[in-house]
Order: sequence, then structure tokens, then C-alpha cells
Amino acid sequence: MILIIDFGSQYNQLIARRVRENHVYCRIETPGITIDDIRSLAPEGIILSGGPASIYEKQSPRIDPEIFDIGLPVLGICYGMQFMVAALGGTVKRAGKREYGFAHLEVKDFRGLFQGLPQTTTCWMSHGDSIAKLPRGFKITASTENTNVAAMVHPQKKLFGLQFHPEVAHTPQGKKILRNFLFVLCGCKRSWSMKSFAKNAIEDIRSAIGNKKVILGLSGGVDSSVTALLIHQSVHHQLTCIFIDNGLLRKNEGQKLKKVLRQHLRINIRFVNAQGKFLQALAGVTDPETKRKIIGRIFMEIFEAEAQKIKDAEFLAQGTLYPDVIESVSAFGGPTSVIKSHHNVGGLPRKMKLKLVEPLKYLFKDEVRLLGRELGLPEELIWRQPFPGPGLAIRIIGEITPKRLTILRNVDDLLLEEIKSGGYYQKLWQSFAVLLPVKSVGVMGDKRTYENIVAIRAVTSKDAMTADWAKLPHKFLGKISNRIINEVNGVNRVVYDISSKPPSTIEWE
Ligand code: XMP
Repeated sequence: MILIIDFGSQYNQLIARRVRENHVYCRIETPGITIDDIRSLAPEGIILSGGPASIYEKQSPRIDPEIFDIGLPVLGICYGMQFMVAALGGTVKRAGKREYGFAHLEVKDFRGLFQGLPQTTTCWMSHGDSIAKLPRGFKITASTENTNVAAMVHPQKKLFGLQFHPEVAHTPQGKKILRNFLFVLCGCKRSWSMKSFAKNAIEDIRSAIGNKKVILGLSGGVDSSVTALLIHQSVHHQLTCIFIDNGLLRKNEGQKLKKVLRQHLRINIRFVNAQGKFLQALAGVTDPETKRKIIGRIFMEIFEAEAQKIKDAEFLAQGTLYPDVIESVSAFGGPTSVIKSHHNVGGLPRKMKLKLVEPLKYLFKDEVRLLGRELGLPEELIWRQPFPGPGLAIRIIGEITPKRLTILRNVDDLLLEEIKSGGYYQKLWQSFAVLLPVKSVGVMGDKRTYENIVAIRAVTSKDAMTADWAKLPHKFLGKISNRIINEVNGVNRVVYDISSKPPSTIEWE
């Protein structure tokens, strides 16, 4: 295991990714971690991340300098290196101007970190301060034109520093450098796999939960499904999942989930049909925020009432992922889990005195998918595109009525069928239809029509923070439009949304 100390760098998740890609487990911790805690985690090496601060700032993040004496290899990156230098008696000078971008790296020592590297290579720099004087026992191992100490080593103590960023794609030899750190210098083994993760997680869950009962809110998305499966495989029928059908789901969504999770995987699920309650409360509502608030409130009420029915439940499980946890880890505070708004049962643990179980909290999304596969989750669920908690309510612009829900469901179903058979489903972040609150004139079989318009939205994205509209082929879009207008009653016009996020959002409401 490798411990990464978070000094606030925007690249922290990337460092963790790079380590895990090599089948080595890693954890990100705050600089506040004590030496005793580090010892009990028993890492094989430590990476000190970069960060936006200057070590001369009063508030700059610091870790107990004893970390350099515990005998473990330590790699300091950018700020991490500067911290190491300052803590061990060297000097860091404030730079007149930032060095940002590509630089030519000249390697001077091919042992250790730079084993197998060419003499010169490109690296990515992003720093203000630089090393002016090395602490005792350190040597320069690489330089660039502007930065004399681009890399350093204390060979006896196995302390290493890099002024550039090996974790970013702009440093082409970065992966090799990190591999050298992991395997040559720390002696890590390639033992981290989803198989070993699953095995350990199942044991951990078992010992945490004992013979107590667990509740889980199932949304049908990959995170909550994988959480359910993992807990089910740990404590079987001590787990009860609650799935609330709010009447705003895609066509046959509830039935599909029932079939896969309950019949096929034998997970204990309570299906709550609350369609009437949601649709009644939404009748006549057109304002997007009001829709969301109503849906959130009713969801909470129903979830709580259902959870109360499960007598003696002591745990609430959630599919919180690592990025949600890391996002809330500041270099100056402790990690706390952010509960995703769509799971929206944030207040429940305290209110019902439930303890949280978050078995995915050290995984990234693609690792959750791999875990799902390892546990036997069908591909169809593993690759499901994200679907918002408020469901079709925020894709029906204007009033939500049963008739308009049926139209949108039929369009959406047909669209997904085409997207899947065209081979686009996994390439797109999301693809869906939106029903507009305006009608338009058309002509069908010599007759005038006055019917609904639907918009097709298809986007590519990495994390939903930014998104680009998908450049689907015109012929393919034409086929979708033809099928929708011919096969779905009540639609006579299809438009394609060509806006990116920002400034638009993915969903229309
Ligand atoms: P926007 O529309 O803000 O959406 O670009 C970003 C991502 O979040 C999803 N989304 C939601 N997910 N509850 C959810 O669970 C919500 O209320 C919600 N609103 C938006 C959206 O589908 C996209 O993936």
C-alpha cells in the first residue's frame, strides 16, 4: 500500500489513479495524520503531493517531519518536495515568476527513480518556488534550463523529490518514474485487484455489521447496485434495499431492476410504488426548482417511513465514491463524506441513529464497474448511463401529466434502442429525450398535425462537470427522428440539442 499525503494539489486523484493502474493499493490522507496512524496503516512508501501553497505562507500545510525518519521511501512532488527540503534544513526560494508548462529534463543519475529513462525527456512544470539549497545528504538527479534542482535524492534515506509532475500525461516518462518508485524503491507487489478488493471488503463488512440489519436506498444506478451486491454477499438477508418507484422512471425500469437484482441475484428489495403520491404532488407544477424540491421531500418522507418498518436496523449503506470523499478533503481539515444530493438521505443516519457503511468510498467509478463485474452484476447494469434522481420530471418541460410521461417514455425507449444498437451507448456519457412545452404544425398523410416536439440530448463527458454535445452522424440522427415521428403518437418534430456544458447544463431543468 502507498500512502499519498494531500497537500491540496488538483492532481491528487491522478496520482492515486496512476498508483492503482499498477495494481498497487493507495490511500489519500490529510497532512494531519499522525506518525502512529501512518505506522498502523503500514504503507510501503509515501508520496507527498503538490499543492498551491508556498511553504513560506503561515497557513501552508505541513506534516510531522518525523515522516522522513521512519525508514520508508518518500517521494515529494512539487510542493511535497519543497516541504521536504525546508523540513530537512535546505532552502526554498520564492520565484519571481511561475514556471508553467513543458520543460526539457536532463537526467543526471540513472539509478533509482530514473532507471531506464533516456538522457533527455520532456516534463511538465507548474511551480512558483524553487529549491535554492539542498539539505545535507541530498544530490541533484535531474535539471531543466530554468530549474537546477528538478529532481533530487537522499540515497541512504530513500528520500526523493521531483519539481515536475510525473502523474500528468504531459510528462511522457512519468509512468515509468512512478513505476520505479513503486516497484524498485518501495518493493510493492502487483496485488491490488478487484478480486482482492472484493474479498477484503466482504470480510470487513461482515466484521463491521456482525449480525445486525442494514438498509440501503437503491436507485438502479451502478453505485447503489454494486453496494447492494457487495453487502448482500457479505451479510445476505440482513440487508434490505428500498427502491422507490416515483412514477418518473424510464419505461419498464422498475421491472428490469426487479428481475435482475431480486430474481437473478436474490437481493432482498422492498419495491415501494409511490407513483400516485409523486404525480399528485407534481400536478400543475412547472417551475424546475419546485419540481426538484417536491420530489426530494416526498422521497425523504417515504424512505424514512419504509426504513422505520425495518425493525432493529443499525446500519445505512451508501454508494459514496472516492471522488466525493476526496472533494471534501482539504489540506487543512479532515475527510468527511459528502452525501450525494440524489441519494438525499443525508439526515437519516443521525435521525434514526443509523451507522453509515460506505464500502465503495475508496473506489473510482471505473473501479466500481470492474467490481460490479467481479461480483457478477449483469453488463446492462454495470454500464448504465447516469440517470437523475428526479427522473423524467426534469425532462418534461412544463407540466407533468400521465399522458406526457407516456409520450416521453416511448420516445426515450426508442432512442435508447437505437443508441445501443448503433454502438454509441457506452461512448456517450448520457443520451436521452426531452419533451418540450410547445407544439408545432406538421403534415402526415396529407393531413395537418399539431403535435409535440422532442429534443434529443446526447453528450460526451468525463465527470459531468463539463460536457460536449455528441457529434452523432447525420444519417443516424435522421433515422432516430424518422422512427420517433412514425412510431410515437403525439410527436411530429424532433430537434437535436447542440449546446455544451458550460454554459448549458446536461439536463434541461
Ligand atoms: P447537469 O444538468 O447539472 O447534470 O449538467 C450533471 C449530471 O448530474 C445529473 N443530475 C442529477 N443527478 N439528481 C441526480 O441524481 C439530480 O437531481 C440531478 N440533476 C442532474 C445529470 O443527469 C448529469 O449526469
